Amino acid sequence: MSKVQVMDHPLIQHKVNYIRRKEVGSKEFREIVGEIAALMCYEATRDLKLQDVEIETPICKMVGKELSGKKLAVVPILRAGLGMVDGMLSMIPAAKVGHIGLYRDPETYEPVEYYCKLPADCDEREVFVVDPMLATGGSSVAAIQMLKEKGVKHIRFMCIIAAPEGVERMQKEHPDVDIYIGALDEKLNEHKYIIPGLGDAGDRIFGTK
Ligand code: PRP
Ligand code: URA
Repeated sequence: MSKVQVMDHPLIQHKVNYIRRKEVGSKEFREIVGEIAALMCYEATRDLKLQDVEIETPICKMVGKELSGKKLAVVPILRAGLGMVDGMLSMIPAAKVGHIGLYRDPETYEPVEYYCKLPADCDEREVFVVDPMLATGGSSVAAIQMLKEKGVKHIRFMCIIAAPEGVERMQKEHPDVDIYIGALDEKLNEHKYIIPGLGDAGDRIFGTK
């Protein structure tokens, strides 16, 4: 069964709570989403493997630790996932970026695919799928399925706010994918929005609506 980690870092909790406020405008919302993504990336990469590397400082030779193992990729689910990309790259600048375009049909709440462009060597990378919201889980389950169909084997999922319904669905459909959550909320409402949530993440990031 996958690991589910709800972030307990005070900075993450503070920033997530701050952006829930309805009066926070797009500029501030976008900036703080980026900061949260960077902090979550820091927490979610704690177990990356290191290797000994010999280097020479201006003083002497030494053996230090650097990242080893798989190269990384960040794959945002469009649109709202785009808001997390720069924050992720501020921590892991060498990562490549793929894009998966999905939107939730407003009637059925099922994800509709409209775009997929991934790094050519994505199947050799450890992929972080990012999306601020995990509601029914339809979008993240579908995005991860698309990655698996392209041969990607090592996938983690990061979201800022999750509903228990979405976490349960993800664990059922993708038990191999670890999930990192900024805040775990109460439930979904009748329109499948997260309660208390923060509203529509895409609209708040891009100022639409
Ligand atoms: C939002 C959000 C997720 C999805 C979550 O995207 O960013 O992708 O809904 O809901 P789910 O877990 O029930 O699938 P939306 O479809 O509103 O598209 P957008 O990012 O383009 O606004
Ligand atoms: N998508 C969002 O942006 N917000 C929700 O609460 C649910 C889905």
